[in-house]
Amino acid sequence: MHISPIDSEDLPTNTTQNEHFQDVVNRAVNRRGFLKFGSGAAVATFLAGPLAACGGSNNDSVASLLGFKAVTASSADTVVVAEGYTATAFVPWGTPLFSTGAGSTWSGTGSETAADQARQVGDNHDGIHFFPIDGTSSSEGLLVMNHEYNTTVASGYLTLFGATPAPANTLERVNKAINSWGCSVIHIKKTAGAWSVVTDSVYNRRITAATPMLLTGPAAGDAKLQTSADTTGTEVLGTINNCGNGYTPWGTYLTCEENFNGNFGTTDNPSVDGRTDAMKRYGITAGTSGYAWETQHTRFDYKREPNESNRFGWIVEIDPFDPTSKPKKRTALGRFKHENAAYAFTKDKRVVIYMGDDQANDYIYKFVSTNAYIEGNQRANATLLDSGKLYVAKFNDGATTGDFMGTGQWVELNISNTTIASYGTYTFSNQADVLIHARIAGDAVGATKMDRPEWVTVHPTSGEVYVTLTNNSGRTTANDANPRTSNIYGQIVRWRETGGDAAATTFDWDIFVLAGNPTVPANQGTTKAGSSNVTADNTFNSPDGLGFDQFGRLWIQTDGKYTNSGDYANQGNNQMLAADPVTKEIRRFLVGPKECEVTGLTFTPDSKTLFINIQHPGENGDNASHWPEGGSAMPRSATVIITKNDGGVIGT
Ligand code: FEO
Ligand code: CA
Ligand code: CA
Repeated sequence: MHISPIDSEDLPTNTTQNEHFQDVVNRAVNRRGFLKFGSGAAVATFLAGPLAACGGSNNDSVASLLGFKAVTASSADTVVVAEGYTATAFVPWGTPLFSTGAGSTWSGTGSETAADQARQVGDNHDGIHFFPIDGTSSSEGLLVMNHEYNTTVASGYLTLFGATPAPANTLERVNKAINSWGCSVIHIKKTAGAWSVVTDSVYNRRITAATPMLLTGPAAGDAKLQTSADTTGTEVLGTINNCGNGYTPWGTYLTCEENFNGNFGTTDNPSVDGRTDAMKRYGITAGTSGYAWETQHTRFDYKREPNESNRFGWIVEIDPFDPTSKPKKRTALGRFKHENAAYAFTKDKRVVIYMGDDQANDYIYKFVSTNAYIEGNQRANATLLDSGKLYVAKFNDGATTGDFMGTGQWVELNISNTTIASYGTYTFSNQADVLIHARIAGDAVGATKMDRPEWVTVHPTSGEVYVTLTNNSGRTTANDANPRTSNIYGQIVRWRETGGDAAATTFDWDIFVLAGNPTVPANQGTTKAGSSNVTADNTFNSPDGLGFDQFGRLWIQTDGKYTNSGDYANQGNNQMLAADPVTKEIRRFLVGPKECEVTGLTFTPDSKTLFINIQHPGENGDNASHWPEGGSAMPRSATVIITKNDGGVIGT
């Protein structure tokens, strides 16, 4: 998400003095797949040289996974995709999922009621996954996606109640907002080359910010999860701020709750702060909230219902093939501002989930399940995410400082660790509390403060893990993994677990790309020009969405500045690029419309259809975007279907 004018994720809530590298045995970096930079000359090679802008992004002399012709930067109000490809908008906000009853038509004006919205596609599309209907189909399946939030401007919700911004100042309006968040499960089918919604399918489902769901795992039932409406601490209404996603090998969807803090406020003497230190660490702000849900539902009032916010900030597992199933908030995976969730297997087939916490100076985590995955045993696999160990990452400089690589450690977050149990800043009650306040446990063990961890993805064969660190303009102390103070462009870091085992507690890492802008004269010769794989032809800022396809192409999506001037000159609108992890070449594949972010990606099994999401076109409320319909239509978030005109694999 991108909130204008101030993105709350840019404001650190981490007030600890954690060192960025401490008490660690720094091992020499000598791992397969890592480029070695032992000298100043090698570092110079990593960084963009003065001729970087002339490097070109279509150098065919190097064998590459990338077969398409790069697109130039664009500031147009349209989706630009590589030559030979077609991009088609699909299932925008408000699309009916049923042919009769509430919400069976879209008015075009945003006049729908709360009841209508509960049966239509939600707002601000984000993470997305295609589940083949039979496990293998590339022409029919369930498209499951997140609806992260509603765009607001100073005068209210931008389009939710129509073309003129308006506040959610009635119960009906707040409930419409609530029903536009969460997830959609949409049965889709390709007929004569065109994808459409299977209206009235039994699988079609909206999961909203009011849908009953369960808290499961070690923290379920804990006193800190109990509220006046749920004295058991096990059943929550709704999922919110569903940002990135994941999926599991057993066919379920993982939706990740990110900026839940923004939904809590108070109408109870709002001039008196009343927040706990833990609430502050999680970014809850004093007084009334921008979304104003607390004005109609006391559970969103942090004074009246102080534990309700503890019931958000989780990863939620959804079975899209069982429309009556209750989603499950998996407390074993920890509570923070979850971006996405990427799975891997340990050598003995336990499940690992890699996760980033998107806040300036927050952390990267992984969960390792207690039990192993058993192919075909849905009953056993259904509880894999309820028991395991949660770790937080330390990224150390390694043998040499200043070489953009180093070593790392995974530190378990467990109440049995005396560093956590005796932490002076916060007193943990039990292991449930460690999971509920995972950020504070990370503070206690000195985890490495990162430049806003966004999406994580795992290479399909090597198991190497890549993470986007989108930017951190407030960084004041650099280290090798976060090597720039006032980092406005962001970077992608990758790591390899020791022994190639995702269960390892140590790893080696290096920076895959230091985003930058070599076309800005003042950046020349500085790290702001980016690493050597950044050129005038592919320059971008703020990498966010990230995912490998089955062939090992790394797809990068951006959610950054789109002024196309100053530090961001020649970068255009937010975009999607593809990278070859071996050659490190990066090529721009697609550019989004005005004032959007490009986010979420999933392929059909044959990799010949790519689905992505365009979120918040025209977010500034300045009438700049009318995407996707054009004319004078209100801008709407929507999915985009991308195919290659010759029917080939996307990216070739
Ligand atoms: Fe919802 Fe960090 O992006
Ligand atoms: Ca280093
Ligand atoms: Ca994001």
